[in-house]
Amino acid sequence: MGKVFICDHPLIQHKLTYIRDENTTTKAFRELVDEVATLMAYEITRNIPLETVTVKTPVATTESKIISGRMLGLIPILRAGLGMVDGILKLIPAAKVGHIGLYRDPETLLPVEYYTKLPTDVTERQLIVIDPMLATGGSAIAAINVLKKRNCTQIKLMCLIAAPEGVRALQEAHPDIDLYVAAIDDHLNDHGYIIPGLGDAGDRLFGTK
Ligand code: PRP
Ligand code: URA
Repeated sequence: MGKVFICDHPLIQHKLTYIRDENTTTKAFRELVDEVATLMAYEITRNIPLETVTVKTPVATTESKIISGRMLGLIPILRAGLGMVDGILKLIPAAKVGHIGLYRDPETLLPVEYYTKLPTDVTERQLIVIDPMLATGGSAIAAINVLKKRNCTQIKLMCLIAAPEGVRALQEAHPDIDLYVAAIDDHLNDHGYIIPGLGDAGDRLFGTK
């Protein structure tokens, strides 16, 4: 079964409170999501492989470690996943970015795929699927299906807030996938919104409501 990691660093939890706050402006919301994505990237990359290189300091030559940033791929789910990409690229600038466009049909709550563009070497990369919200789990499950159909095998999921229903659905559909979240909230309401959540992540990021 995939593990669930709750990123409970005080800085992440502090910023998440302001992300939730309905009085936070679009500008501040975007900045806070970007900052939390950077902090969560620190957690999610904890176990990525290192390689040894030789480095010459001003006084000696020594062996030292570097990470292989070119082996990572970030896969934001459009739209809201875009809000977390730059924050992660600050730490891993060599990562490539693939996009999967999905929206939830407001009636059925089922994800509808409308766009996919992935790096050509996507199967060789360790992939981080990014979406601020894991509600019913339908969008994340569909995005991971897209990647698995293309023979990707190393996939993690990063979200800001998850509903327990979404976590269960993800674990049933993809028991091999580890999930990193800042919080697991109480429940979903009848419209599939996470309670207490933060509202509609895409609308709050892009100021569309
Ligand atoms: C939101 C969110 C997730 C999805 C989560 O996107 O960004 O992708 O809902 O819900 P689920 O777990 O029930 O699938 P939305 O469909 O509102 O599209 P948008 O990002 O374009 O606004
Ligand atoms: N998508 C969002 O943006 N927010 C929710 O609470 C659920 C799905």
